[in-house]
Amino acid sequence: MLVFGDVFAGYGGGDILRGVDLVVEEHSLTCVVGPNGAGKSTLMKLVSGLLHPRVGKLEFNGTPIGKASPRQIVKQGIVQVMQARNLFPELTVRENVELGAFLVSDSSLVRKRYDEASEMFPIVKDRAKDRAGALSGGQQRMVEFARALMTDPVLVCLDEPSMGLEPRAARTIYQSIRTMHAAGRSILLVEQNVRAGLELATHGVVMENGRVRLEGTGMEVLNNPQMRTLYLGGTIEEGKVASSTGAHAAAPPGAP
Ligand SMILES: Nc1ncnc2c1ncn2[C@@H]1O[C@H](COP(=O)(O)OP(=O)(O)OP(=O)(O)O)[C@@H](O)[C@H]1O
Ligand SMILES: [Mg+2]
Repeated sequence: MLVFGDVFAGYGGGDILRGVDLVVEEHSLTCVVGPNGAGKSTLMKLVSGLLHPRVGKLEFNGTPIGKASPRQIVKQGIVQVMQARNLFPELTVRENVELGAFLVSDSSLVRKRYDEASEMFPIVKDRAKDRAGALSGGQQRMVEFARALMTDPVLVCLDEPSMGLEPRAARTIYQSIRTMHAAGRSILLVEQNVRAGLELATHGVVMENGRVRLEGTGMEVLNNPQMRTLYLGGTIEEGKVASSTGAHAAAPPGAP
């Protein structure tokens, strides 16, 4: 469905992504993990049209989207929930969710989608008239998910949705991701909690230094012995593990 072919991209000071090959299959829940700075958010910016590949192929259902604007990409059926929170705190929950339908002019369709989204995320129904800024971090995330569904997306991209949440709120978010997936949305997830993300995933992807280093089912990747080495500061090169004394990148997969 979504295909990266040998993609190179960066921010003007050299490439951050250096030859990314990746296929996100329809109906999959694909989870991308990797140390800080691996290029995960950069990859997500390409998918939402905020950044364009310098070279390489980026296609969605056979259509090139490498030069598409964010608006054109939403029209194609891709929506993204960014790493940073981005609700309008002074607007109500309902107003925030309805803003997700900015490309929909048919008000009965907006109403229908709002009803569906608030069924899936009860917090939206319960707190519809409250200021979004009055909700907890985890509750705001669910409002962001509801807003994303207002475009009736085929592919939902989530960049570290559990970031900054305490464990119980994070578990609620993982359950919400499962629910969206079960409702037929394909999901591309970046997750810093390696174990939680890969346990959710149908397909797991490990990025390091701007490339895909390991792939498989979520459980295959989670149980791959190279994973622990990578997260303890080693690197994975062409299927081999090379240890290094570099700075520790992130918590190992077993860490909370
Ligand atoms: N707007 C930007 N301008 C210049 N460099 C950037 C920009 N955003 C990210 N980078 C650089 O690109 C590299 C990859 O960053 P990216 O945000 O994609 O990593 P990440 O895998 O998402 O990391 P994290 O786990 O910390 O979120 C980093 O070296 C970062 O400094
Ligand atoms: Mg990131």
